[in-house]
Amino acid sequence: MKRTSNILIAAALVSGALVSACNRGENNRNPGRHYMPDMFESRAYEFYSERVSTLKPVEGTVKRGELLPYHLKAADTAQANLVKNPLILGKADLEEGKRLFNIYCGVCHGTKLDGNGPLYKDGTGPFVAAPANLASGPKASYTEGRLFHVMTYGYLNMGSYASQLDREQRWKIAAYIHSVQNGGANVAAPAAPAASTDTTKATAAPVVVAQAK
Ligand code: HEC
Repeated sequence: MKRTSNILIAAALVSGALVSACNRGENNRNPGRHYMPDMFESRAYEFYSERVSTLKPVEGTVKRGELLPYHLKAADTAQANLVKNPLILGKADLEEGKRLFNIYCGVCHGTKLDGNGPLYKDGTGPFVAAPANLASGPKASYTEGRLFHVMTYGYLNMGSYASQLDREQRWKIAAYIHSVQNGGANVAAPAAPAASTDTTKATAAPVVVAQAK
């Protein structure tokens, strides 16, 4: 009996000490002692801070496997006419160019490239500016380089497609357009036999130092 009461008294003393450790009398704002404080106060971590995730690559960075930057400026159309398609494109790539054209350009220029897509519809559509006829007429003799240039910078009433289509995609579209312009007369021989894109053969555009696009 006596032993039990000793244990009870001891227990009361210990719990009293613990309680007072938690709540130190007059200063209620003091948290007292913590057992393993590293688990109590987690370390702040900002997932989306600038340091961790939103740093942009250094200017001039070229992604592995990506074509080198295009250095001509918007006004350099004469030079753009001379730029060669850096890709060796096969039939499948022209098909891909066609697919992309019908998605990104066909709404205005029409899947027949005649400048009469559903957004224009002989002037009755919601887009008021007449898209250029790419199938025949003066624009039908544009080189692939010039077509790439127009997609990169846009032209008057037409915006740039550089943010929607990467360089490889723009070259594929240019090759597709060129292959069907003037009823296909622009390309004398069938496309090169290479089955798919060979980006390792990519060459740099004429060296004019300017912002990459
Ligand atoms: C929103 C409608 C619209 C879309 C989409 C569009 N274009 Fe155009 N495009 C135009 C208009 C309008 C013009 C005529 C611009 C002018 O003369 O003001 C034009 C002109 C052009 C020209 C002739 C430029 C010149 O030098 O005269 C080319 C080439 C061309 N577009 C290619 C494309 C390609 C390739 C795409 C797809 C990546 C595309 N366009 C998507 C509306 C569009």
